[in-house]
Amino acid sequence: MPQPMLMNLHPSCYVDPAVHGRERQAIFRRHWQMLGPASQVAAPGQYVAVRVAGWTLFAIRGRDGTLRGFHNVCPHRGARLLEEGSGRCDVLRCQYHQWVFDETGRLRRAPHFGEDPGFNLADWPLQPIAVETWRGLLFAAIAPDTSLAEQLGDLPGELADAPIESYAPAATVRFAIECNWKTYTDNFVEGYHVPGIHPGFAKVIDFENFQTVALRGMVRMSSPQKDGSIYGGKWLWMWPNWTLSLFPGGMNTSRIDPHGANGAELIYHFYFADMSAEAAAARQHTVDANCAIVREDFGVCEHTQRNYASGGYRPGPLSPRHEQSVAYFQGKVTEALRHRAALAAE
Ligand code: FES
Ligand SMILES: [Fe+2]
Repeated sequence: MPQPMLMNLHPSCYVDPAVHGRERQAIFRRHWQMLGPASQVAAPGQYVAVRVAGWTLFAIRGRDGTLRGFHNVCPHRGARLLEEGSGRCDVLRCQYHQWVFDETGRLRRAPHFGEDPGFNLADWPLQPIAVETWRGLLFAAIAPDTSLAEQLGDLPGELADAPIESYAPAATVRFAIECNWKTYTDNFVEGYHVPGIHPGFAKVIDFENFQTVALRGMVRMSSPQKDGSIYGGKWLWMWPNWTLSLFPGGMNTSRIDPHGANGAELIYHFYFADMSAEAAAARQHTVDANCAIVREDFGVCEHTQRNYASGGYRPGPLSPRHEQSVAYFQGKVTEALRHRAALAAE
């Protein structure tokens, strides 16, 4: 029996706000999110505050040495507690009306609140989330369906020989892109577009031997390199929305964060083994060259998004040679939405 042809998703999946709302619940609320270097929260008081598909969250290292995470939402009238980004704070105090929380999330003081016999500090803690670190990377999850180890799937084996925790974070680069997070991900997990969209990059890799393999919870793309390439020849994407690319002497990671149905942000971190002053120019060259390639994808992703929104596209076929991983990713999305819908119906 011939295999049925692989088909792209219906364009409504990429533009419909209702689908986006379901993905927030079934995918982004239920899966671990990679938030960059764990060294951001190494010392007591250090925090990282992020947005995850519209939710605002933070991870913080307590004075007791414990790493914890919370919604970045004050239980009083909903203000954010910490500005997005990383930093250090001695006291968790909401700027709005100055409620103070301790490192375990308990409300300690509500100054000038007044007398109300029904009001107890203990009833108004911050809402906790799950946080973990793995090999130098920080992860958080609002209400995870699985352990981080389970979600990572085949990644630990894939990176067993790469000394990723020995690399130091050197640069953060953020990109706003006007397309659905899946439009960008579909593009990331195939090398089919390399000759058309990345002609310079195509010259330093052996495209005929470009390979894309869907593993458990991840996709590996690899290609033999030609002389002079600054790339590592191995690019990994992990379900549901992060990437890790190795290059000689370092790596980059990225998180693909949806901003509504029609926008996304990419948060890249670059890490290097050699942080010496002498290597600064080489590091900057690597960051610039990688970012240039990332940017080359934006035009095609944004035009494709507009065509999905226009109603002028009907699902086309996916390449069995190059786009098996697009089908794998899309299957994971469809399965997560179906799974959540089935639970909701019970
Ligand atoms: S909203 Fe935070 S103290 Fe009022
Ligand atoms: Fe690309």
